[in-house]
Amino acid sequence: MKNVISIRDLSREEILHLLDQGEKIEKGELKPDHSETVMSIVFFESSTRTRFSFETAMKRMNGKVITMSGTKGTSVDKGESLGDTLKTVANYSDIMVVRSGLEGTQRYASEIIPIPVINAGDGSNQHPTQCLLDLYSIRKTQGKLDNLSIAVVGDLRYGRAVHSLVYGLSHFSPKLHLISPDFLKIPEYIKTDLEDKNIEIHEGSDLSEVINKVDIMYVTRIQKERFSDLDAYERVKNCYVVSKSMFGDVKSNFKLLHPLPRVDEISTDVDDTKYAYYFQQAKNGVYIRQAIISELLGGSK
Ligand code: CP
Repeated sequence: MKNVISIRDLSREEILHLLDQGEKIEKGELKPDHSETVMSIVFFESSTRTRFSFETAMKRMNGKVITMSGTKGTSVDKGESLGDTLKTVANYSDIMVVRSGLEGTQRYASEIIPIPVINAGDGSNQHPTQCLLDLYSIRKTQGKLDNLSIAVVGDLRYGRAVHSLVYGLSHFSPKLHLISPDFLKIPEYIKTDLEDKNIEIHEGSDLSEVINKVDIMYVTRIQKERFSDLDAYERVKNCYVVSKSMFGDVKSNFKLLHPLPRVDEISTDVDDTKYAYYFQQAKNGVYIRQAIISELLGGSK
């Protein structure tokens, strides 16, 4: 692995290796040290979890971090191009994490700079490190990844976490329930790719039809920032609100995941139930990101 740009670039074996390394780091069996390394975090879009967990991951490995959080105060505001910005920051760092609203930014970065690039989200396209922490969380809560029944709920059209997750899961023979309003259905090209891999897919819009059948329900925020028509957003923004009262007949191993941030799609009365896993899921991001950084820097030392 030279870069992490799309989950589609990783094999089942590479994914499982990263999850295993993350597990060893969480258990304290592996303590990578990257004290000589500077990581740059170049974020053109807002973030809480991804940015802070990457910073924490690097600092837990004794590495150093430089951060650009938005373009304010940088020379991008003077008109400096994306390419020049990336090449310049690459001069000061050994590995770069990039978030952008523009799909393909990280692939482009990987072609023009000589250091490893990690995609921390590019528009509606991909969020591969989120996918890896999601798979880690699913394996941790279910004890396995193969042959699970998983509902993915909400904004399947614009949600990059969903787009990465379904490709990641496709290595593990899932039964996928894709639950969304018609307007927010998963893009046709992704559905075709999943069908080509013989993944069992059920599309629908009614959450109550699947909640008692699945091992994992992965709920997502409606991605307001991707809508060109805010009236369309208003029509779908509250299409799903998961509440505690819905858990009466769920499976005993059922867990509720969400990449976060949430807006209103999971009510706070769910947070203290045994089914809520989303804050632990975000915490798992540190172990997985330590594993990813270490792998790109040549393996854990
Ligand atoms: N899940 C996720 O990407 O969260 P942030 O946008 O807060 O980084």
